[in-house]
Amino acid sequence: MRDLMALTAQPQVISLAGGLPDVSAFPAELLAKITAQMAAESSVPALQYAPTEGMDDVREAIIEVMAAENIRNLEVDDILVTTGGQQAIDLCCRILVDPGDVVIAEAPTYPGAVPCFNSFEADLVQIEMDSDGMRIDILEDTLTRLKAQGRRPKFIYTVPTFHNPAGVTLSLPRRKRLVELAREHELLVVEDNPYGLLRYEGDPLPTLYELDGGEFVIYLGTFSKILAAGLRIGWAAAPGPVLQKLTIGKAAGDLNSSSLSQMFISYYFRTGLWKQQLETYKELYRRRRDVMLDALAEFFGPEAEWTHPQGGLFLWATLPDYIDTSDLLVRALDEDVAFVPGRGAYLDGRGGSAMRLNFSGVSEDDIREGVRRIAKVVGEQIALYGTLTGQTAPARQAPAVDPEVVTTEPMADVLPLPRRDVDDGRARGSR
Ligand SMILES: Cc1ncc(COP(=O)(O)O)c(C=O)c1O
Repeated sequence: MRDLMALTAQPQVISLAGGLPDVSAFPAELLAKITAQMAAESSVPALQYAPTEGMDDVREAIIEVMAAENIRNLEVDDILVTTGGQQAIDLCCRILVDPGDVVIAEAPTYPGAVPCFNSFEADLVQIEMDSDGMRIDILEDTLTRLKAQGRRPKFIYTVPTFHNPAGVTLSLPRRKRLVELAREHELLVVEDNPYGLLRYEGDPLPTLYELDGGEFVIYLGTFSKILAAGLRIGWAAAPGPVLQKLTIGKAAGDLNSSSLSQMFISYYFRTGLWKQQLETYKELYRRRRDVMLDALAEFFGPEAEWTHPQGGLFLWATLPDYIDTSDLLVRALDEDVAFVPGRGAYLDGRGGSAMRLNFSGVSEDDIREGVRRIAKVVGEQIALYGTLTGQTAPARQAPAVDPEVVTTEPMADVLPLPRRDVDDGRARGSR
């Protein structure tokens, strides 16, 4: 992902690869005004260390944001301010995962979480999704199978709302069942929810945290997509003992998140403008999503299919099996367009014919042109397939899902490393 982001930073490349919010929609004058006021009134706390847990005003602002998600009855002590939602994922792994431990996630999962799972040598079990999000029936079977093997997952990591990268949302019955399963199996669920407030159509669904009452669910949020990613401020709300461990882990990692950023957030929330800004982002992204959906319908052939996100920043397109999107990306970059190849969202080699497309970070014209260029290289591959096999590519059909089938397809450019012994005292003691 880092290599890809470096390549796509070139100005001529239309990048549908990143997950960038369009922060140019945040008024620069407001930034200047708040910053000046903050410097005049609060330069000392803005430039000083802050409590590891986070500044109280920021935790109050987070309570306000979570109330907009219909999560009530929170107190500041239920919240830990983190350096982006990313640090919160890392902390969950840091405090809970020993090498070889099972972590469950969706298939595909958030590509940015993959390095966290890898760093802590989690054994990631990925559960298929469909248009209603994670297949909870498959999750249930998987939990039963793992139990029979004496393997207890450390947590279930999920992005239930406007999934990154899949663009789908977990349905209400599945949310309820997931929360029930967490209770039945006494399992933690990490609900990562950066996009819940970026809904462009349909009615909001309750968060897992709301449904569960915060007993088994660790909720992760962020200001990155509703305010500004450069602030690097996110949060975790978790059951008391878990929050305590997360806080100790954070103190070890970075003592506290940027005081300057936190102070900015507390001043910004005093203006009362955050919901208005959220509406600005929503309007912008809704239009861009529609442009992308229209462009896909116009330029992609019947061999491809894609999700229809009701919110968030991404959709997931699936091509015929014989197209490898990691290879396709090389061709796409020749055409100055980029996407995230599907394999980045799996740890087991799947995702080879899928791609993630982002619609928040570039203009409507660029979205249309970017999709056209991708469709061109896809068309070339389909034509090549036809020439080599003498066959016309069939329209896509969803592959049958068998949770027991583990693919043996090797991962591109990944060298297998021997696992550390789970009983290795050094490895355990280090977390
Ligand atoms: C699902 C998910 N979780 C976490 C993050 C991390 O966001 P940040 O660290 O900017 O808060 C992202 C960013 O794209 C994301 O999509």
